[in-house]
Amino acid sequence: MNPLLIAPSILASDFRRLGEEIARAESAGADWLHMDIMDGHFVDNISFGPAFVAAARKCATRPLDVHLMVSRPDHFYPRFTESARNITVHLEAQHDVAATLAGIRAAGCTAGLAIRPATPLEGALPHLPQLDLLLVMTVEPGFGGQEFIPATLSKIEAAARFRADHGLTFRIQVDGGITPATAPPAVAHGADTLVAGTSLFRAERMDQAIAALRTS
Ligand code: DX5
Ligand code: ZN
Repeated sequence: MNPLLIAPSILASDFRRLGEEIARAESAGADWLHMDIMDGHFVDNISFGPAFVAAARKCATRPLDVHLMVSRPDHFYPRFTESARNITVHLEAQHDVAATLAGIRAAGCTAGLAIRPATPLEGALPHLPQLDLLLVMTVEPGFGGQEFIPATLSKIEAAARFRADHGLTFRIQVDGGITPATAPPAVAHGADTLVAGTSLFRAERMDQAIAALRTS
């Protein structure tokens, strides 16, 4: 079993004070720092890009987990390999998924594959032996602060069953609407890597909020 990792999502931080926000998350107990890249095309929002992630890398001591919500992840992932530990791309984007995952690994990062709430797990199955992390989106990608979608729990469970049946060890990450109330069912169904933006950065005490996620 993979140890539980907590990844605060920088999207919910105060961008005016990126370095301080990263230090705050790290001293509160963050394992990874999750960074959402949005291109205004794959999702209806634009967030930040490689220069911002490189700036975060200079402040951070924990690994950066880059989530590419872009239409052409094959074109853009090389711009993040210097800064990131893990790079996750979407199954639904326009690219040769196997080639992108292989390229990310060849560049020295771990490779993740994400699926939207409406995307069945089946399309991801052929890739699971070649990846390090499966991201089951628990909200529609594009914005922080949305409500967890409970229907995604059965997908988490099916992914965990596939992982056990095939002797695989990839992480199962959940992202969107993760709080002390929604983390326990996600973990009970097989999630081991929790991304949380609003519930951590807007908490009065981030250390307590992270501890609450850890008791899931
Ligand atoms: C949504 C992003 C998430 C987002 C999560 O598209 O992928 O990482 O920051 O934010 P919360 O935890 O507020 O739902
Ligand atoms: Zn994300």
